[in-house]
Amino acid sequence: MKKILVVAAPMFAALIMSNSANAQMANVWDGAYTEAQAVRGEQSYQEHCSECHGTQMQGREEAPALKQGAFIYNWDGMPVSVLFQRLRETMPLDDPRGTPRKVKADILAYIMQQNNFPAGNAPLPYQNSRLKRIQWNALNPAEN
Ligand code: HEC
Repeated sequence: MKKILVVAAPMFAALIMSNSANAQMANVWDGAYTEAQAVRGEQSYQEHCSECHGTQMQGREEAPALKQGAFIYNWDGMPVSVLFQRLRETMPLDDPRGTPRKVKADILAYIMQQNNFPAGNAPLPYQNSRLKRIQWNALNPAEN
């Protein structure tokens, strides 16, 4: 019993620390990707996604649009990690694990650009722990 407590204490401390880090949430309106990354992402998007979602992200048949309208509100108020996980685990529908995390992050950067979120100085990360700290808001919280 004592042993378990000794092991659990540092884990608990790590949990508290990660919670306090979550308190400092960044936002997609702060510039969460770079222009260069969105350019790379566009190429990968055209290669892996456009066949179903359309070359302009307008949506085609079963595949929904990936910009503006319903799409931007679907993820409103959520950490970007949730959307990333969705891409990671389910898209492209025919081969979700065929595209590396880094390429998925580039594609997500391009999706952000197409949704009119501003670019910034640092690329969108591909690690879940970091994506969790960026919030997706349909409207800029600084203006609303
Ligand atoms: C073979 C066709 C196909 C390909 C290729 C594909 N998708 Fe999809 N995607 C779909 C379909 C169909 C849906 C809706 C049904 C579902 O959610 O599974 C969807 C849903 C989505 C959603 C959820 C949309 C929402 O409104 O929240 C996202 C995000 C997405 N796709 C992104 C991508 C990205 C990024 C790629 C490329 C890496 C990609 N998809 C490639 C067919 C495709």
